[in-house]
Amino acid sequence: MLKAIILIGGPQKGTRFRPLSLDTPKPLFPVAGRPIIQHHIEACVQLPELKEILIIGYYQQSQMEGFVGDMQNLYSINIRYLQEFTSLGTAGGMYHFRDQIRAGNPRAFFVLNGDVCADFPLQELYSFHTQRPSSALVTIMSTEATHQQSLHYGCLVFDRTSGAVSHYVEKPSSYVSTYINCGVYVCSMDIFTKLAQIFHAKGEEYSCVSYCNGNGNGKEQGHIKWEQEVLTPLAGTDMLYAMPVPNWWSQLKTAGSAIYANRHYLALYKKTHPERLANVGTKRGEGDGNLICTILPDVYVHPSATVHHSAVLGPNVAIGPGVTIGPGVRIRESIILEQAQIKDHTLILHSIVGRGSTIGAWARVEGTPSDPDPNKPFAKMENPPLFNNEGKLNPSITILGCFVQIPAEKILLNSIVLPHKELSRSFKNEIIL
Ligand code: GDD
Ligand code: GTP
Repeated sequence: MLKAIILIGGPQKGTRFRPLSLDTPKPLFPVAGRPIIQHHIEACVQLPELKEILIIGYYQQSQMEGFVGDMQNLYSINIRYLQEFTSLGTAGGMYHFRDQIRAGNPRAFFVLNGDVCADFPLQELYSFHTQRPSSALVTIMSTEATHQQSLHYGCLVFDRTSGAVSHYVEKPSSYVSTYINCGVYVCSMDIFTKLAQIFHAKGEEYSCVSYCNGNGNGKEQGHIKWEQEVLTPLAGTDMLYAMPVPNWWSQLKTAGSAIYANRHYLALYKKTHPERLANVGTKRGEGDGNLICTILPDVYVHPSATVHHSAVLGPNVAIGPGVTIGPGVRIRESIILEQAQIKDHTLILHSIVGRGSTIGAWARVEGTPSDPDPNKPFAKMENPPLFNNEGKLNPSITILGCFVQIPAEKILLNSIVLPHKELSRSFKNEIIL
């Protein structure tokens, strides 16, 4: 039996995802019509041996229970959300909930960062792990990045034949290796012995009294950094391995990377769920005869959305539940969230339109893509800060928070609009608070 853990962090994380993470926890933001971590779950359920998925984070139970219930109904495996009482770091939660992970005696478990997206090769990763020496505690999924970009990730040096990792540095200040940590792992159950050693060693360092009676913030001993405190010391000991994979992989930190992930997950549907993709001339709904508009693949349209037949959608567009799209609308490289209304002849490019927003007729909403440099092999998405050195907004995709209203005939370019705003004029390169 196998299990999987998905690490999702909590409300203080995902700041670069604002304003989209203001009303939905970032792990539940829909990409290609499915919440980000549903793609992780779908990769996990492909493994017949995998019996339970534990989602670990510090969001309130109430924010996750609807999603977990839906997942539980959809897939015939056990899916639960375990809430950390405070941020315990990338390994603290794993140690805190060790009994739940060990219950039922799994042979091994996967750990997946909730903020990555990929064509997850979980079966290959598991097979690779089982073929390593019995001393192997962790196998890391690794991919190649450029020299300069590698510094933003965990970097590893490993033997190309055995996969043994000899050196691991988390976000080094100078170049170590172009092989980076994808935030996807297979762990043997003996990893808990290591975690216990780390936990107890920390307990000796910090006063247990302050930890127990709440004088400390509870972080000292229970907070464990997986990368720095576990992976780095495991390197060079024959306990840490890496499997380089050529599959598509990216971090999902900014709204710009959501558009990039949207494109790749839609492309992946061709292989995994072709029925989810809208085809040119698809009939919508039972007997309604509503011929879907012109589709330039790949496009996902939720069955409850209403799209006028003269609209043109795609490539790389996801339309959420209850969305209304009027005549003559053109949408490309964008995500339109539930209940949004896109009025006649509006143009939307490289943008995310929040839940319940309304865009008036003949408006133009446009952003700037921040795709990886196609001329650089192994280039990953850049996740630039919101502002440049002069304090100006870096051109990026345009984002409308939930329930934003854009009047007819206005132009919105490279802007971020906070929820519930009613714009009265056009804007360019601005954050509208
Ligand atoms: N449960 C829980 N509790 N999850 C957490 C916590 C916590 O206290 N802190 C972070 N996480 C989750 C995040 O939601 C995310 O999914 C994952 O753990 C890693 O988060 P970060 O701490 O933001 O690390 P990172 O994304 O900058 O870097 C990590 O991932 C890279 C690949 O995307 C590292 O593992 C790098 O080495 C790696 O290259
Ligand atoms: P490429 O695919 O980039 O080669 O160019 P294209 O001319 O086919 O245009 P694209 O697919 O990028 O989509 C833009 C389409 O929207 C074009 O057909 C434009 O005529 C149309 N368009 C541009 N601005 C507006 C607008 O403000 N409103 C509407 N309704 N359509 C527009």
